[in-house]
Amino acid sequence: MQITVDLSRLLNELEKLASFSDAPAPAVTRVVFSAQDLAARAYLRELFSEAALEWRTDAVGNTFARWTGADPKLAAVGTGSHTDAVPHAGRYDGTVGVLGGLEAIRALQRGGFRPRRSIELLVFTSEEPTLFGIGCLGSRLLSATLSPESARQLKDRGGKSLEEILRQAGMNGSLENVPLAKDYYQAFVELHIEQGPLLERKEIPIGIVTAIAAPATLRVKIEGAGGHAGGMLMPDRHDAFLAAAEIALAVESAAKDTKSIDSVATTGVCNVFPGAVNSVPSRTVLEIDVRDTDLARRDGMLSAIRSACEAVVAKRQVRVEIELINADAPAQASPLITEALAVSCEELGVGSMRMVSRAYHDSLFISRIAPTGMVFIPCRNGYSHRPDEYASPENIDRGVQVLAHTLARLAQ
Ligand code: HGY
Ligand code: MN
Ligand code: MN
Repeated sequence: MQITVDLSRLLNELEKLASFSDAPAPAVTRVVFSAQDLAARAYLRELFSEAALEWRTDAVGNTFARWTGADPKLAAVGTGSHTDAVPHAGRYDGTVGVLGGLEAIRALQRGGFRPRRSIELLVFTSEEPTLFGIGCLGSRLLSATLSPESARQLKDRGGKSLEEILRQAGMNGSLENVPLAKDYYQAFVELHIEQGPLLERKEIPIGIVTAIAAPATLRVKIEGAGGHAGGMLMPDRHDAFLAAAEIALAVESAAKDTKSIDSVATTGVCNVFPGAVNSVPSRTVLEIDVRDTDLARRDGMLSAIRSACEAVVAKRQVRVEIELINADAPAQASPLITEALAVSCEELGVGSMRMVSRAYHDSLFISRIAPTGMVFIPCRNGYSHRPDEYASPENIDRGVQVLAHTLARLAQ
């Protein structure tokens, strides 16, 4: 089947989507439910209507755009990704899977393909942890990995509840209606930039994801004794930032000490209180991201970090409270999807390699309810979550071609 991607249209749409941002170009900041996010959602709904897709939005903002197949009763084939972006990010993380998924559907429509199974584009809400501190809120609820009751406990940084934020964003409906049935999707495939350097280094245009690493997030609150930077003598101090600094270094050691390249750990948030240059920090809050493709190694890092916290408590007489925000199992891609992707690459004469994803994605959670896989395209230097994130038009084109062929194969 001859499929042609309308690359210039797709690149223009990626450009337009990037304009919905709270940061000056080339950076993109699009926090979920912000005014820019809501404007981006409205733009996407216009594109879905233009493509004659029936769209709907659930109570938490997941958006479904469906191309109804010849047999609408059959479980659909899904594709999609997210459009929210962490602060000062790039313009390709997530959006390539949403607009690329849309273009794959349009290319199949233009090529005269008629799917037996419906093909559905899914735009996940709140994939990034920026607002609520936990990633993949939408797909956790869709897969019943997170219950509606637990989701209602979530608050943003300012203490506003999820329900209040949903109401203000104009979302309605009950969170109880969000979970999808186990047989809702026959298959699910997500197109995404690699967010790592391997494909580019090996000069291979397509990555077929075999597994998605197991993510965990900790929030660590350190309470020390505040005081005057001039009057408080050094022997009397219980500096909450220095205690946090030792913990952050222990986080790095926990990852390095496993001797596995698949172990990563990051202290990405550090809030120091009261945050005055002439006050000894009384409280520090750290947010720590720990991942590995191997669950036992990931959990080993978590316990090493806990032990380090205990040692810092003894050494500095501070109080440390560790909150485990999430600790998810890794996901294995389904052979149904990896094989379909491999055949599509062969048909197209496109080189591919099997690889793990160190980044997490909504597919991690959709894999709990459907056979799921991911297809990666290279991004320059592996950069992501930074303004110079870049995927070339050629790589985007190839990724959409492979996705379109794979969706057609799964949907007929
Ligand atoms: O952090 C991640 O892996 C994803 O980009 N949210
Ligand atoms: Mn991301
Ligand atoms: Mn992403």
